[in-house]
Amino acid sequence: MVRKGTRQTDGGDGLKSLIGIGLACAALAACAPKPITPEEAAALRPAAPRIAGLYEGACKACHANGNSGAPLTHDHAAWAPRWKQGEGVLLDHVVQGYKGMPALGQCVACQPADFQALIRFMADHEGDAK
Ligand code: HEC
Repeated sequence: MVRKGTRQTDGGDGLKSLIGIGLACAALAACAPKPITPEEAAALRPAAPRIAGLYEGACKACHANGNSGAPLTHDHAAWAPRWKQGEGVLLDHVVQGYKGMPALGQCVACQPADFQALIRFMADHEGDAK
């Protein structure tokens, strides 16, 4: 009787943790970075009107274009390793140019704060308070 009771308890806990794992996996799958298409990237627009204007006048031509070699806007897999470099490095790369990326991202009207907002928008880190 004691062994049976113990087993039942184990079984119950095991089932609960299985359900827990299942729920966690479902949640992970829902938020896992899924590849974004150039069409989806092209439909994205920064909320702030000034930043949206600058983005559409410069960055979007490459960053919503699958053939440019640029990380697509909101392509989390492409942006994650770049974001890890830190915002200071990303800002330097935009201002000075970086590989296929032209200096200033071809935006002569952009101020440093604009670049920061543009980078956060494209990398989907707009919520960051830093
Ligand atoms: C003429 C095309 C072009 C335009 C316009 C452009 N980019 Fe880029 N950008 C690229 C390419 C290509 C890369 C990828 C460079 C590489 O890693 O090979 C890139 C990469 C980046 C990166 C990542 C740099 C790194 O360190 O990984 C940032 C940030 C960035 N662009 C921001 C911007 C911003 C902001 C604008 C608009 C002001 C902009 N880009 C406009 C082509 C462009």
